[in-house]
Amino acid sequence: MYAAADPSGADAAIFGVQSTESGPKILATGLSDERKAAIEALLPAMGVSGSAGSITAIPGAEGDPAKVLMLTGVGKELNAEAVRRATGVATRTAAGTAKVAVMMPIDDPELIQAVAEGASLGAYSFNRYKTQGARDPVSEIVIVTQGNEDAVNKAAVLAKHVKAARDLANIPGADLYPETMVDRVNEAVAGLNGVQVEVWDEKRMEAEGMGGIVAVGKGSTRPPRLIKVTYNPAESRGHVSIVGKGITFDTGGISLKPSAGMWEMKGDMSGSATALHAVLAAAELGIPTRMTAWMCMAENMPDGGAMRNGDVLKFYNGKTAEVWNTDAEGRLVLADGLSIATTENPDLLIDVATLTGAQVAALGSRTAGLMGDKKAVDAVQAASTATGEPFHFMPFPEEMFADMVSNTADYRNIGAVSNGGMQKGGIFLSHFAGDAGNWAHLDVAGPALNSGGPWGFTSAEGTGFAMRTLVKVAEQLNA
Ligand code: BES
Ligand code: MN
Ligand code: ZN
Repeated sequence: MYAAADPSGADAAIFGVQSTESGPKILATGLSDERKAAIEALLPAMGVSGSAGSITAIPGAEGDPAKVLMLTGVGKELNAEAVRRATGVATRTAAGTAKVAVMMPIDDPELIQAVAEGASLGAYSFNRYKTQGARDPVSEIVIVTQGNEDAVNKAAVLAKHVKAARDLANIPGADLYPETMVDRVNEAVAGLNGVQVEVWDEKRMEAEGMGGIVAVGKGSTRPPRLIKVTYNPAESRGHVSIVGKGITFDTGGISLKPSAGMWEMKGDMSGSATALHAVLAAAELGIPTRMTAWMCMAENMPDGGAMRNGDVLKFYNGKTAEVWNTDAEGRLVLADGLSIATTENPDLLIDVATLTGAQVAALGSRTAGLMGDKKAVDAVQAASTATGEPFHFMPFPEEMFADMVSNTADYRNIGAVSNGGMQKGGIFLSHFAGDAGNWAHLDVAGPALNSGGPWGFTSAEGTGFAMRTLVKVAEQLNA
């Protein structure tokens, strides 16, 4: 994807259609006024209103910039998220063609970045296991604009890393497990300046007291790993640490999940992929903020070595927890990851996790749960306003803390009462986030795994949700 002044060679030109009081209005460059007016006059009869998510293709005529014209609905208001979604729908629909040109009369750099992000994010599909029937995503996108190269380049870097995170979430558990994740990380950081990788194997984690990651990995023949990825720019204006849930497959363990839908749990490591690529995107963009990703990798399997219900685990910060449900494993690996992350005293400490089905039940597949300390919660909210990724704040009602206390150990990993499951997951984690008042917890179970709707993902494709917001958090820190 790149910015250029002209659309030559494009298979399709992508224009916007806005819904206005006086009817649908075409947002296009490269069309004559007469031609635009002629098409616009036909839109009501074609049923094209410009509503968000709608898309119509018509044949181009002599003098038009391409043989196919795609009209993508932006809805009523022309804002960043509206154009991001609209161009995403368009490139998604254009899959199978090679080159498209996005031609909208937009000059504001922030809006152009959103136009470009949407276009690139829509040009994605996960086809590497298909031997037939694949429709390849558009391979070349030109954003027709003048003087907005920086905004387009920035969008290209961000979208590349979102798509890399999606790939990781989509790879099956047989091929992506803690040790192969280490390989993927090493490949991804190659050639990036100022980025370092450190890996803990199961022996070192055991020796250092990371009883959560070790216990969750016990039931698998594939040993767990903790992967630390650091981006340390020469002159940084602060430090953001991101702790990612990296369960490469979640069977539930001894508290075995039912089969229906279990396959989706190949994406239960998407928090770790998001943490990794947020750091790498920041590095590639040269954002002047130190960033650290802590990727807590384990496979949650039931075998003779697996952790048992009732077992007591001791975490890196010395606290203990009784396992009442081995399927509440994300919080067990994150407890160690958060504990070790606090030892570096970051300015912001944010964990990102496909933590609970309760999040999906409460907020659905497009809106993440956001919990934690005001300072960090505010930073995430401010960033999400710019990125368009929705987060909803969830409180920690005081009475829920008691439900996470164990008779045997300090805590138990689930409540005795099943209500408030999303917050109880967050409350468990709060005991490992230190007392600096700088922690936020992102429960992305729904949005990271299954984002139907305007961007047109099919069910359960990994979405890379929260990555752009985390980069924005770093960008806005002490800016
Ligand atoms: N990875 C799951 C949560 C999940 C469920 C993510 C559906 C995406 C879609 C997590 O490890 C889990 O199993 N959580 C349990 C917690 C419960 C035992 C307290 C859940 O939500 O059922
Ligand atoms: Mn689980
Ligand atoms: Zn899980």
